[in-house]
Amino acid sequence: MQASFDYRGQTILISGGSSGIGLAIAKGFQEAGGTVWITGTRKQADDYPDDLTGLHFRQVDMEDGAAIDALGEELPSLDVLVNCAGNTIRNEEAYQPDNFDKVIAINLSGTFRLSMATLPLLKKGPGSVINIASMTSYFGAPGSPGYGASKAGVLELTQSLAVAWASFGIRVNGIAPGWIETKLTQFWRESQRDRLILERTPMGRWGQPEDMTGAALFLASDAAGFITGITLPVDGGYTAM
Ligand SMILES: NC(=O)c1ccc[n+]([C@@H]2O[C@H](COP(=O)([O-])OP(=O)(O)OC[C@H]3O[C@@H](n4cnc5c(N)ncnc54)[C@H](OP(=O)(O)O)[C@@H]3O)[C@@H](O)[C@H]2O)c1
Repeated sequence: MQASFDYRGQTILISGGSSGIGLAIAKGFQEAGGTVWITGTRKQADDYPDDLTGLHFRQVDMEDGAAIDALGEELPSLDVLVNCAGNTIRNEEAYQPDNFDKVIAINLSGTFRLSMATLPLLKKGPGSVINIASMTSYFGAPGSPGYGASKAGVLELTQSLAVAWASFGIRVNGIAPGWIETKLTQFWRESQRDRLILERTPMGRWGQPEDMTGAALFLASDAAGFITGITLPVDGGYTAM
């Protein structure tokens, strides 16, 4: 994507920026001149197959509250937070209550905790938060009820924080990706669901991680200065179908 936003002098943190959607968004902010910090589950940047050069990598388990708080304290400044780290547990295992709790902890509680850990920096603002929601924020997710509940929660949390933090000059918005080709969805692409997803998506293709970049750069920018509390579907028409 051609960068048409200017993030020079700004610091951006993207949880889950080590792969897929988060990495594409990280590279978009980097190309637009920003100083970009990313997190992932592995020990160091070299442990990843993708090139993370120029991105400040930190290992942070989104279930580890102390690690999240420590990251908030380590950051020198912050203009944009993108809560993108996410995971799922599918099928029969998804119906075990401990696994339900685990997915909620990573996707929803982790989003809230990192937002709180970085709030003092964002308040110096004008800060902006972008939460990564999902089509399952709107539709049922029978293969992973914890994932669906977490992403519905992310949509609501976006609204709550947008209202609560508007007086601090912090805007809080979301992006709801459609079906995007990443390691998270490899399972579906290799199943019979692949055909159903393509039939259900008017634009007739899987989204690419880079399809999310423009929405993130826009929502965090002055061009979206009066937008807060929305979750923008970027889905090839999936929600319109
Ligand atoms: N792909 C889609 O179709 C789609 C659709 C809607 C929403 N989303 C959301 O988009 C976000 C990014 O997903 P993706 O599709 O880009 O998948 P991905 O390539 O697997 O990226 C997931 C990211 O989250 C990190 N992560 C996973 N579990 C974590 C944990 N317990 N603690 C800390 N970090 C963890 C991963 O770290 P590692 O790289 O170290 O594993 C990675 O950086 C997620 O919130 C996902 O729910 C994806």
